[in-house]
Amino acid sequence: MEKRKIILDCDPGHDDAIAIMLAANSPAIDLLGITVVAGNQTLDKTLINALNVCQYLDLDVPVYKGCGQPMIREQLIAPSIHGESGLDGPQFGALTKQAEPQHAVNFIIDTLLASAGDVTVVTTGPMTNLAMAMRLNPDILPKIHELVLMGGTYQLGNMTPAAEFNVLADGDAAHVVFTSGRKITMAGLDVTRKVLCLPSIVERMGRIDTKAARLFVDLMTFFNKTQKEVFGWDGGPLHDPVTIAYLIDPTVLTLKECFTQIDIRSEQSYGRTNCDIFDIFKQPPNSSIALDIDIAKFWDIIEAGIRAYA
Ligand code: RIB
Ligand code: CA
Repeated sequence: MEKRKIILDCDPGHDDAIAIMLAANSPAIDLLGITVVAGNQTLDKTLINALNVCQYLDLDVPVYKGCGQPMIREQLIAPSIHGESGLDGPQFGALTKQAEPQHAVNFIIDTLLASAGDVTVVTTGPMTNLAMAMRLNPDILPKIHELVLMGGTYQLGNMTPAAEFNVLADGDAAHVVFTSGRKITMAGLDVTRKVLCLPSIVERMGRIDTKAARLFVDLMTFFNKTQKEVFGWDGGPLHDPVTIAYLIDPTVLTLKECFTQIDIRSEQSYGRTNCDIFDIFKQPPNSSIALDIDIAKFWDIIEAGIRAYA
């Protein structure tokens, strides 16, 4: 099987960390680099978290520091979900892995321009880095094979009734991406809320009893605690790995093409992904929206991803 070349742009974040784990050792994926953005926590913290996860899992993947602020709006972070460090729970040793000297935006640009147009960009945080790359050098647009993002919802938001965190935290960046003309696959809350990491799942993965399994348990134990406090759920939605699971096995998602606009003008609904599911506007589709997920297949992909580590 030919490996899918990807850049993973993320804001670790507990679920981002699992997405890194799943992507880095998958036989289906060639992880070219990890670019980090502010989101769940400030950039200094999300960068350390990405480096710690890579070092703990012995990943030889370059990590790049990206944008520390949204393009226009004031910064929004999520300590109530991810803690003060952005990755509360696991205990890591002394960090020696360092970020690459190149800025993440320039890494995205240089990698795409040098490619044969076969690189997929996956975002699991606010889309600031990707949007800045698109604005800085539009020549990358035809070089993007596909954009796969965790974000948005055609139903209810999680940070406001209208908006999901990744899009809300930088709606203007999302607007740049959704008007770029490139193929977008959107894994929104509509499907990620169907893969709740219930205690039975944590126990299932814990029985694998490896370093990676222990990291999964430590991450999800904290994540589930805050999700219970904030939303009252018995398990946290494992949002970000849905993007990677889709790349490993596209049949895990049921998609519908439609025209999606980002609301960047209103007060109450800023950051809303308005997905024209019923084709009311008769506009050409700019996105494939995930309507459903094969839950059993998803957890099998997660388990295989953990077992890919010794
Ligand atoms: O709304 C969920 C998304 O926001 C996830 O990517 C989570 O990590 C946060 O970035
Ligand atoms: Ca994230």
